[in-house]
Amino acid sequence: MATILKTDEAIAQALSLLEAGQIVAIPTETVYGLAGDATNGEAVARIFEAKGRPSFNPLIVHVAGMVMARRIAVFDPLSIRLAEAFWPGPLTLVLPLAPDAGIHPLVTAGLDTVALRMPQGFGATLIGRLGRPLAAPSANSSGRITATTAQAVEADLGDRVPLIVDGGPTQVGLESTIVKVEGTRLRLLRPGGIAAEVIEAAARLPLLRESAAGIEAPGMLASHYAPMAAVRVEAGEVGPNEALLAFGPVRAALSENAVAVLNLSEKGDLREAASNLFSHLQALDRSGAATIAVEPIPNRGLGEAINDRLGRAAAPRTLAASEPQAS
Ligand code: TXA
Ligand code: MG
Repeated sequence: MATILKTDEAIAQALSLLEAGQIVAIPTETVYGLAGDATNGEAVARIFEAKGRPSFNPLIVHVAGMVMARRIAVFDPLSIRLAEAFWPGPLTLVLPLAPDAGIHPLVTAGLDTVALRMPQGFGATLIGRLGRPLAAPSANSSGRITATTAQAVEADLGDRVPLIVDGGPTQVGLESTIVKVEGTRLRLLRPGGIAAEVIEAAARLPLLRESAAGIEAPGMLASHYAPMAAVRVEAGEVGPNEALLAFGPVRAALSENAVAVLNLSEKGDLREAASNLFSHLQALDRSGAATIAVEPIPNRGLGEAINDRLGRAAAPRTLAASEPQAS
């Protein structure tokens, strides 16, 4: 079971858990978050594992100040104006990912954008002390209601997280508002703790509400990352001009044919496989192979989310192939 500590006594233990790549449930001003080091793939995989999310939605990266924020995302005058008006606070900005941002690709689901937010209170203190950004989705298991008290986190995730930091009921009680900065335009991806009108007034711009594609929702964006190469799942053998995405100790037949081979986890560990998924797909894509053949991956634990992602990459490349889901 999880240890529950009040904010004023939790810092040391929270820091040592996060430094060790573990996850911690923390209060923010919006809702409780399930936090892990955003630069550590195993920590991020643990977040998905604890949430039992059947897919890899991109996560919000939480920062403690503008210096950290600017290492992670590219800010233009419009995004700076929004950050100055609302940070720290319940606004999440989706911005271009900076080169060498250091954010693990499982956080962004391989996208070239990143959702960034500067929280108030305990979260800000913790991130400042850690000196690294925290990835944190809402601290609820997939399909369950968002937690706004430590007791609600305990009831839902108490057996899956070592530490819950109790900061009392959250002030806002709603998730952050998510706004995507698209050049000179702003798009509302998720209504939340700051009203759209308030953001429009500060930005002196309207918030667009529909995506260019008409049906885009935040939970669907993970489906936008697809490799250039075709993807063939459940591969029992390797064909000509194929790269091989392997899993576990035993190779598919004719693996000597592969133009490139990367193993998600030699020892068959699904958490390690999850943390390698996007970087390995990207690397095999760069090998120039026409097709990436993927060895079968067991559909238990994080395997379900890995197979969901691979299935989308293997499917015909249309938006309709993806479905929105609660996160
Ligand atoms: O208030 C909040 O925002 C809370 C606290 C813990 O900070 N966090 C939260 O995270 O609600 P989560 O993971 O439950 O929701 C994150 C949303 C998802 O809908 C996800 O699809 C979207 O942010 N998102 C993340 N990265 C994105 C990106 N690069 N582009 C578009 N949407 C993104
Ligand atoms: Mg959520």
